[in-house]
Amino acid sequence: MSVESFFVTKIYRSEIGEERLNAELDAACRSIAEDDTAGQTWCRKHGYPGYTSYASLNDLPWRVPAFTELVRILDKHVAAFVKELEFDLGRERLKLDSLWINVLPPGGVHTSHIHPHAVVSGTYYVAVPEGASAIKFEDPRLGFMMAAPPRKAKARPEQRAFVYVQPQPGTVLLWESWLRHEVPLNEAEEDRISISFNYRWR
Ligand SMILES: [Fe+2]
Repeated sequence: MSVESFFVTKIYRSEIGEERLNAELDAACRSIAEDDTAGQTWCRKHGYPGYTSYASLNDLPWRVPAFTELVRILDKHVAAFVKELEFDLGRERLKLDSLWINVLPPGGVHTSHIHPHAVVSGTYYVAVPEGASAIKFEDPRLGFMMAAPPRKAKARPEQRAFVYVQPQPGTVLLWESWLRHEVPLNEAEEDRISISFNYRWR
């Protein structure tokens, strides 16, 4: 007999490991979170725990040199992921559409969501203190599973309905934007800081 796997869901991981860049991003994220009053107001109004620049700032890669540098690195990782996914993009490549800061305080969560209007999404992790949340991904077929039995607790990661990926500072994760994910309760005693982004095709 033979058993093959089809319709795979890929999650890309790389450790960027540039300490100087990470320190610059860390300082920039903290000072922007402190100064961006429009962003703070948006977070308060929408019950967003901590801070996100998602709704208030759309020019971080041009505003801060460390972000410009990060985007150059991300472009290369996204290109590698596109190759791995065997996307046929014609003459085009995926382009950065948006990029934003997330500061998740102790006790904060970010509920389950997808990233509409994008092709590849991802996160670069700046500060991951001890006890900080992993990111949880959901099997995109979950809604079709109806009467399917649950998987064994020790099932291989690729067979599970949910997977948790634990990042460290300098980790970049990429996934296809339709893949549902969430950030469970942050049990760290300090802020968990990350930079998320969307890449579009056209
Ligand atoms: Fe997300």
